[in-house]
Amino acid sequence: MTRSPRAFIFDLDGVITDTAEYHFLAWKKLAEELGVSIDRQFNEQLKGISRMESLERILELNSSLLNLPYEEKLRLANQKNEHYLELIQSINSDSILPGIEDLLQKCKQENIKIALGSASKNAPIIVDKLGITKHFDYVVDASMVKNGKPHPETFTTAADFLNIPYSECIGLEDAAAGVEAVNEANMFSVGVGEVKHLSHADFLVGDTSELVFEEIIKHYKVKCEVS
Ligand code: BG6
Ligand code: MG
Repeated sequence: MTRSPRAFIFDLDGVITDTAEYHFLAWKKLAEELGVSIDRQFNEQLKGISRMESLERILELNSSLLNLPYEEKLRLANQKNEHYLELIQSINSDSILPGIEDLLQKCKQENIKIALGSASKNAPIIVDKLGITKHFDYVVDASMVKNGKPHPETFTTAADFLNIPYSECIGLEDAAAGVEAVNEANMFSVGVGEVKHLSHADFLVGDTSELVFEEIIKHYKVKCEVS
């Protein structure tokens, strides 16, 4: 039987707005302050994962940074967040990525619930700056889950609150860890990005302008038919 999806659960950074780029720039600045250099290729593994986990991966690049006391790690994570907060100051509704507002609108028209599933503690501030808080039936941010992505908890927490079976949810992600989380939740995964990073997505688009509602539904239904 062909089902229709009942919820879209959006990642924030890199899907709704280009804050993935600001996270990268902020980490790059912190890394340089530590005498470490990171590039975009390295950054792919930081996408979708928590602030502290990202810091650990950067510290691993230099053996002299491996055994820093926890308080120092916390200070560095806060320092990165200061860099990040500076970069996001000017975010407003013009910062919403192409295709996203149409998609939110379409979900509303079709009575599909809309949730946010973000690994960022800054998610509520950003959604507010973008002026789209009203569109969300539920917002899950990093402070609400025990296990970050690639664990499915971010997505299952949203679905559980909305009381919708996981198989009737669609998760949209730009991170490899995020797509893994959606898949682990037994939801339909939509990846935004390159196949070399997101080949495990059920449906992949190159950028958000290609997130066309009807296309997503078509691919979702094909997967329902074969499973
Ligand atoms: C994720 C981003 O959404 O949030 C990561 O993809 C980021 O790059 C993580 O590190 C944590 O964000 P924050 O705002 O809590 O530091
Ligand atoms: Mg993301």
